[in-house]
Amino acid sequence: MPSPSDAEIAAMRRALELAAQGPITGGNPRVGCVLMTPDGRIAADGWHRGAGTPHAEVDALGRLDGRADGLTAVVTLEPCNHWGRTGPCSEALIAAGVARVVYGVPDPGAHSAGGAERLRAAGVEVVGGVLADQIEEFLGGWLASVRRGRPWVTVKWASTLDGRTAAADGSSRWITGAAARQRVHEERAANDAILVGTGTILADDPSLTARGDAGELLAHQPVPVVVGERPIPADAAVRRHPAGLIAAGHRDLAAVLADLNARGLRRVYVEGGPTLASAFVGAGLADAFSVYLAPALLGGGHLAIGDLGIPSMAGIHRLRLDHVERLGDDIHLTGRPVPNPDLHSGRTT
Ligand SMILES: NC(=O)c1ccc[n+]([C@@H]2O[C@H](COP(=O)([O-])OP(=O)(O)OC[C@H]3O[C@@H](n4cnc5c(N)ncnc54)[C@H](OP(=O)(O)O)[C@@H]3O)[C@@H](O)[C@H]2O)c1
Repeated sequence: MPSPSDAEIAAMRRALELAAQGPITGGNPRVGCVLMTPDGRIAADGWHRGAGTPHAEVDALGRLDGRADGLTAVVTLEPCNHWGRTGPCSEALIAAGVARVVYGVPDPGAHSAGGAERLRAAGVEVVGGVLADQIEEFLGGWLASVRRGRPWVTVKWASTLDGRTAAADGSSRWITGAAARQRVHEERAANDAILVGTGTILADDPSLTARGDAGELLAHQPVPVVVGERPIPADAAVRRHPAGLIAAGHRDLAAVLADLNARGLRRVYVEGGPTLASAFVGAGLADAFSVYLAPALLGGGHLAIGDLGIPSMAGIHRLRLDHVERLGDDIHLTGRPVPNPDLHSGRTT
């Protein structure tokens, strides 16, 4: 079993940096590629800029002066093996004369996997699994989405320290300050779709656009998706959204996610309100949380998350904190659910 050299591991780190320059949104993964000479010199590199543009391997080959005979391709994701909008990267590498391919994680796609096998069959030496943990983490949402056939779901809310998202009269603007609200716009722009329930549309009439500091529209606008049975008013602001509007017309969250997945929408940002957020959490469909906490108290009802049907501490939903940051006077926390072994073992004490 061939193993990677130190130079190849360093090149993989570089390939990962290049991958990070690609767009986080859209149906395709962020991938980087470095072409190396046998003596460890970087001959060319490249990365994928989104669906319909050359894959990272083809981008790097295109920047090469001459042929790739005898070179090693170091690429974060296993080279694809299918004809999509572009040709298979495995074939492009073989045709260019690449002698060795070092990749990070296997391609999880049902139609695109098999690149490593194809390369080996053509006599190319192949090494997989290099920096695999780091690349798994980097591609997290995309990989999970392809493997499970549903988008990666982040549930977001803004609440007071006592977990309230609105006052007794239902008013809820603005709980957090400007810096936190700006971060929310950036998070919107890093997703393919924003989901809200009909309750939020009827209560707040939000535009759900992703905007910059001065209110200008950001380059990427995720499509708004309204979930629920009640009709969306004809004059609702969300109907004027530049990315269009998906009105589910029902409450079936699994069906909503399946529909979004079929449209190539891989990252979903659930912006509430409490009923929809609770439904996602209760159904085990929340992959990540983004919570903005304001140093304020409201008391009363209007909790960020309603009843989850948890009778005792054994059923608690614990989160692993990924990131904690102060934004102005507010705190931003991101985390992911930790599987609760008690729920699966049936233990109750
Ligand atoms: N602070 C924050 O982060 C934040 C964010 C958003 C909203 N809010 C506040 O939240 C309040 C609105 O709360 P809300 O809970 O009514 O809003 P919501 O969660 O947006 O909407 C609730 C409605 O969504 C529909 N729905 C869709 N799928 C569902 C499912 N699987 N299960 C249950 N219902 C489903 C139901 O309406 P149908 O009868 O139409 O099916 C339900 O009544 C507003 O005051 C708003 O300002 C706060």
